[in-house]
Amino acid sequence: MKRPANNDKSLKAFPGPLLLLGAGKMGSAMLEGWLKRGLAPGKLIVLEPQPGKAVKALARRGLKLNPKPSSKGKAATAAAIVIAVKPQSAPEVVPRVAAHIGKGTLVLSIMAGRTLRFLAGALPAGTAIVRAMPNTPAAIGRGITVAVGNGKVSARQRKQAGELLAAIGAVEWASDEDIMDAVTAVSGSGPAYVFLLAEAMTNAGIAAGLPPPLAAKLARETVAGSGELLHRSDLDAATLRQNVTSPGGTTAAALEVLMGPGGFDELLTKAIAAATRRGRDLAG
Ligand SMILES: NC(=O)c1ccc[n+]([C@@H]2O[C@H](COP(=O)([O-])OP(=O)(O)OC[C@H]3O[C@@H](n4cnc5c(N)ncnc54)[C@H](OP(=O)(O)O)[C@@H]3O)[C@@H](O)[C@H]2O)c1
Repeated sequence: MKRPANNDKSLKAFPGPLLLLGAGKMGSAMLEGWLKRGLAPGKLIVLEPQPGKAVKALARRGLKLNPKPSSKGKAATAAAIVIAVKPQSAPEVVPRVAAHIGKGTLVLSIMAGRTLRFLAGALPAGTAIVRAMPNTPAAIGRGITVAVGNGKVSARQRKQAGELLAAIGAVEWASDEDIMDAVTAVSGSGPAYVFLLAEAMTNAGIAAGLPPPLAAKLARETVAGSGELLHRSDLDAATLRQNVTSPGGTTAAALEVLMGPGGFDELLTKAIAAATRRGRDLAG
């Protein structure tokens, strides 16, 4: 059995300032992860029109919240900028960080569907940009992110981007941005498929005669426990499945339906293809 992932790479030595644009759900999850890894609040600048309680409390510990430019009208040059606003507000909001970009600044965007090309067009020429796609388990430090950089990203900046993203879970790098729509369809949207599985198991349990609260608890704990087992195990999903399937038994009877024509594989292939197409259309 594998040990739980070790995500505790220290950010104590991370150079500041680190500017976060948008402290919503995802931005706040990253912020929490960075602080847990030892990043000093004094190294952080947050631009957020409606900061939550946690961000306001950090502002009392040195975090700079919506700072005004200095008297000379100069904004602080950031070592790194993380863009976590909604993709729809990007055209208006992203250019505002330009004043914080200097030689060596890394820009890391987690906006769904906003391409490296879009970002390069909205930022000063020559900016080092990493585009990344995380997913919601980031909220508990158990996300998976796929990242891709433009030609301006140095080895040091790639390492920095990896460290910032490791604060919310596992990180994979892509060399080809074209795969990002499929990544979004599998892991970005993926948590919704898993939650749907829990919902469907609950409904099926009720249909099979279980009291609704018990059906919901059984489905929830089964999905969560199996996810944790998969996470900790060295075995792949197919082997774990086979290990709980005796020939001619109850699991085998269910799997015959799920793996038969029109079953899980076919449905998910169709669903993920639809999400990939949608991502491509939205990116334009
Ligand atoms: N949630 C996910 O599962 C997920 C997964 C992958 C990628 N992403 C990406 O992560 C990004 C953030 O998503 P989210 O779920 O965290 O959204 P969210 O909770 O709405 O966060 C966006 C934040 O940006 C703030 N904002 C808006 N205008 C701003 C401005 N001018 N300056 C600074 N901040 C501004 C918003 O403030 P207001 O509330 O005042 O508008 C909000 O707090 C999106 O681009 C999304 O595509 C999310």
